[in-house]
Amino acid sequence: MTNLIQEGSKVILYLGYNNLHVIKAKANEVYQTKFGALKHNDLIGKEFGSKIICTKGYVHALSVIPELWTLALPHRTQILYMADISLILLELDIKPGSIVIEAGTGSGSLSHSIIRSLRPNGHLYTFEFHELRSNLARNEFEEHGLSQFVTVQHRDVLSNGFEHENIADAVFLDLPAPWNAIEHVMKVLKKTGGRLCTFSPCIEQVQRTCQRLHMNNFEEINTVECLRRIHEFRYQHRSKIRFTADQNQEEIIDRKSNKREPDDDDGDEEEETTTNKKLKNDSEATTKRQPQETESTLTAIGPLVMPGHTGYLTFAYIKQE
Ligand SMILES: C[S@@+](CC[C@H](N)C(=O)[O-])C[C@H]1O[C@@H](n2cnc3c(N)ncnc32)[C@H](O)[C@@H]1O
Repeated sequence: MTNLIQEGSKVILYLGYNNLHVIKAKANEVYQTKFGALKHNDLIGKEFGSKIICTKGYVHALSVIPELWTLALPHRTQILYMADISLILLELDIKPGSIVIEAGTGSGSLSHSIIRSLRPNGHLYTFEFHELRSNLARNEFEEHGLSQFVTVQHRDVLSNGFEHENIADAVFLDLPAPWNAIEHVMKVLKKTGGRLCTFSPCIEQVQRTCQRLHMNNFEEINTVECLRRIHEFRYQHRSKIRFTADQNQEEIIDRKSNKREPDDDDGDEEEETTTNKKLKNDSEATTKRQPQETESTLTAIGPLVMPGHTGYLTFAYIKQE
């Protein structure tokens, strides 16, 4: 596969963190970005990964890889993100040669990562009962050069099952009622053994799924919630704290030079005036201090705002023979 952007190539434009745009390169077209106009002709013939100059800045032109596609894809449904996806791929043991069943396809976010893990000799069968969604997903796989690794079927898997039997190493369900698909899952999984994962936002859905899995002799049933905390590392500049005698001395001298001791015979009024003056003098002393030296410390900063709960992942295993 060429690493050059060609007429018709899909390109992910990286404008900044969380600011990705998807375009298709087309000769003589112009795309407007916050960094000004981007001429498609400046893209065509360049290597993926290149920096492309716009009229008021630049962007990076990146290829469609699953991590970026998940962040940039057109949302037709709720989608899965990388924290959950990475755990799903690991726990379902998806590797080159795996045969995987997925329902529903949704926006194809997870599908792209599954395909990358099972290629070049595995296959994904993905089912979607919303016809437009299944057609759009099929078109995208074709545009991304993935058609040979995936079959998209427009089908209600709860009513009609998965069509195939005894073929799958792993099944993934992102459906509102996954427990109603368990009998179909048992048919499609290899008799020699296979893995299942279901994704559900609510714990009540998880309970019903687990009960049904248990009734059907699934083993190693466990549910996890995967939360991602990104820590930022950065240098912070702080004033050095000095406890030296010199500094104390400096402070005392400053205060003494402005001090007026109250006279014993002074009345309350006088006393109050003096106290006010002392306060004023103290604050002047503070401002008279030398500017303090600063030092840089490498610090880890936890997320101030964190994406919360997405859903629960329930994993299970079955060996039927
Ligand atoms: C939340 S989306 C899946 C998102 C997908 N995991 C992703 O990462 O892009 C759930 C999809 O399941 C589909 N769906 C719901 N019930 C279904 C059924 N019985 N058979 C097939 N697809 C179904 C819906 O139309 C929807 O597109």
